[in-house]
Amino acid sequence: MQPSLRNPIRDRRIFLQAGLLAAGGALTSRSGLLATPSEKAVSANDMISVGIMGVNGRGRSLMKSFASNSGARVTHLCDVDTRATDRAAQELIDQGAAQPTITGDVRKMLEDKTLDAIVVAAPNHWHAPATIMGCAAGKHVYVEKPCSYTAQEGEWAVAAAQKHRRVVQMGSQRRSWPGLIEAIAKLKAGDIGEVLYSRTWYNSRRGSIGTGVTGAVPDWLDWDLWQGPAPRRPFKNNVVHYNWHWHWHWGNGELGNNGIHALDVARWGVDVTYPQRVTAGGGRHRFDDDQETPDTMMVTFDFPEGRTITWEGLSWSPLGPHESRFGISFHGTEGSLVIRDAKYVQFNLQDKPVLEGGGGGGDHVHLEDFLDAIRQGRRPNADILEAHRSTLLCHLGNIAYRTSSVLHTDPDNGAILNHPEAAALWTREYETGWEPTF
Ligand SMILES: NC(=O)c1ccc[n+]([C@@H]2O[C@H](COP(=O)([O-])OP(=O)(O)OC[C@H]3O[C@@H](n4cnc5c(N)ncnc54)[C@H](O)[C@@H]3O)[C@@H](O)[C@H]2O)c1
Repeated sequence: MQPSLRNPIRDRRIFLQAGLLAAGGALTSRSGLLATPSEKAVSANDMISVGIMGVNGRGRSLMKSFASNSGARVTHLCDVDTRATDRAAQELIDQGAAQPTITGDVRKMLEDKTLDAIVVAAPNHWHAPATIMGCAAGKHVYVEKPCSYTAQEGEWAVAAAQKHRRVVQMGSQRRSWPGLIEAIAKLKAGDIGEVLYSRTWYNSRRGSIGTGVTGAVPDWLDWDLWQGPAPRRPFKNNVVHYNWHWHWHWGNGELGNNGIHALDVARWGVDVTYPQRVTAGGGRHRFDDDQETPDTMMVTFDFPEGRTITWEGLSWSPLGPHESRFGISFHGTEGSLVIRDAKYVQFNLQDKPVLEGGGGGGDHVHLEDFLDAIRQGRRPNADILEAHRSTLLCHLGNIAYRTSSVLHTDPDNGAILNHPEAAALWTREYETGWEPTF
């Protein structure tokens, strides 16, 4: 999958903003191959050394997957929770790996010249800053979704990957699932006619996060480094772990949590890049607690090509369309196609299933693609540029929701037009000394 650079104005703006115009011409070749890496090259037979940032839930799972890959070695673990690193290190050793180097400070991990790649599985406010730091330190980066906490950070991450000629892959693993690649190929071949609309959804039954209490930081946690780029706040006992997702200061709500997975597939299948209008509705209907982000949300993205994508997220009600809690449906002039997990069903215009296909999922193929991309000096399946474009949909949906606005956006780059209050949410404030630089 080669991302097409169809938006030269936006791409130029990225370089201008980052002061990288001079470097812009030499970034990628037309074939999508990265220019020759300036740092340590990884040859076809080398083991790729991987360090994991954040080893609680997702990072721990990725650690195990990388450790079981014959082409990779997990050599470094980094977490600000000492309980998490202790547990992960033991599991890694039990899996047959050598004792990893352990640190709580990602900057120390990045100093190690023997390290080839990092996985960023810390909370969202760390995703782009750590990606940028990783690229600047000469590391390839597997960054969990969403690839940024703000739209601005997404642009910076793209620019950093290009400037430092690094492979940067987002953890939108569906881009590498054979069943979904097959389904999208059918859409692109016109099997359901012209695809005009895609519906995406997520349903689950999450509990309340309650009302937190501010107080002393537990002795197992480095709260300062957990916050990193985010302006400082007192420690509150219902944020770490996981529930930061539902606080705007660190997370992007369900849209940035599960919406990104579905919207990325929808944008891929409908074959659109940036929207021209974004509307959002919903609210916090289920619990009266500390959650700030909506538990019920509907977002509509209209694209200049005359295509529409919608997202419906219900974080408290498990019944979703097509008897599925998570899915993507595509609607064409000659039929429709529904994706559930890694499988798809194609329907004709009489709503009769005419074909079933797909299968194969998990993380392994996506990690394999990342490692191959490093060895081959090519863009990975979920390259940061495509990742940014999909993640931007989440940011725009959240901005529309937070400002109760219809957003009109520049179809050439996604920028918010004629709405200073909404445009202000394109970026964030940083803790002094933590502004991303590259
Ligand atoms: N691709 C997928 O299917 C998938 C699935 C689950 C989660 N995720 C993503 O993975 C990320 C992590 O999710 P999670 O559920 O494990 O979250 P979590 O809150 O449970 O774990 C995050 C970990 O990062 C650590 N951390 C925080 N700051 C750090 C720092 N400065 N340095 C090192 N470690 C730091 C925390 O201590 C914690 O151990 C999220 O951004 C989420 O969106 C992706």
